[in-house]
Amino acid sequence: MKVSVIGAGNVGASCAEYIAIKNFCSEVVLLDIKENFAEGKAMDLMQTANLNGFDTRIIGSTNDYSKTAGSQVVVITSGIPRKPGMTREELIGINAGIVKSVTENILNHSPEAIIVVVSNPMDTMTYLALKSTGLAKNRVIGMGGALDSARFQYRISEALACPGSDVDGMVIGGHSDKGMVPLTRLARYRGVPISEFLSEERINELMEATKVGGATLTGMLGTSAWYAPGAAVSTLVQSIVCDQKKMIPCSVFLEGEYGLHDLCIGVPVILGKNGVEKIVELELSEAEQAKMTSSAEAVKKTNSVL
Ligand code: NAI
Ligand code: 2OP
Repeated sequence: MKVSVIGAGNVGASCAEYIAIKNFCSEVVLLDIKENFAEGKAMDLMQTANLNGFDTRIIGSTNDYSKTAGSQVVVITSGIPRKPGMTREELIGINAGIVKSVTENILNHSPEAIIVVVSNPMDTMTYLALKSTGLAKNRVIGMGGALDSARFQYRISEALACPGSDVDGMVIGGHSDKGMVPLTRLARYRGVPISEFLSEERINELMEATKVGGATLTGMLGTSAWYAPGAAVSTLVQSIVCDQKKMIPCSVFLEGEYGLHDLCIGVPVILGKNGVEKIVELELSEAEQAKMTSSAEAVKKTNSVL
């Protein structure tokens, strides 16, 4: 199985590393426009193969898409990241041009590929990739909810002082500070609602901390985060390549689900070998639905800039 990752920067390289370490692909191609950059990252990562015990072959390429030919999944991380004080939406002008040209190149060499969009503003970039390629909606998937949910789970485990693997929680809605909808009502500590252990005030605090999770790290790091984003992408890719049918919140095209039309936004989906195999429609409370509707309005406003 072959996966390509476009953009060998922080997120792209981290994503390639996690895919390799999880050992479910025979080949990962890292591609970047910077001369020799992807080749260097690939060589550095390959020198961890024995240390980390993986067999995946990682290949670097300077903008030569023939190396990506026959990829089952292609991840798009190319573009500029947030700097402190910037919103994801401010990246739209530059990243839209990049995403459009990259998707054309990908499909010229891997016409059957499933595309995972990471570049921000991710919901809008996913919509752009879908509309500009005309691909079926199951083949264009935005990664944001998996990361936001991981950050939500981190905040819950921190509040409960328990292992991260003991908690479950999902974030839907747009991948933006104001648009995220952490579903606190459904969050669990080993199957028990977190409201059994935490006050409403504490739950609200961790919900707010989740929503600004990306901005918090951008302020600390001087650029946006990469470990959790890379790991989150690798989880999506693994579910597709290994046909795991995991339920993961992803940005996908909606045609009436959750009362929403003609946009890509985060909702739970089942991911398997065909990409999005099912959109899971949760019964939301009135307050959750109102947040989802307002998040969708914000995503559509950003889409209108396209
Ligand atoms: P980075 O600056 O470290 O890497 C971006 C790479 O893309 C650079 O190496 C650059 O040379 C390359 N690039 C630019 N134009 C290209 C083109 N036309 N073809 C191939 N490569 C090209 O940035 P980082 O931190 O890796 O972030 C990448 C993108 O992912 C940003 O837009 C960022 O906002 C987004 N992001 C999205 C997340 C999500 O949850 N959806 C999470 C984290 C980042
Ligand atoms: C993040 O959430 C900026 O989307 C990026 O870290």
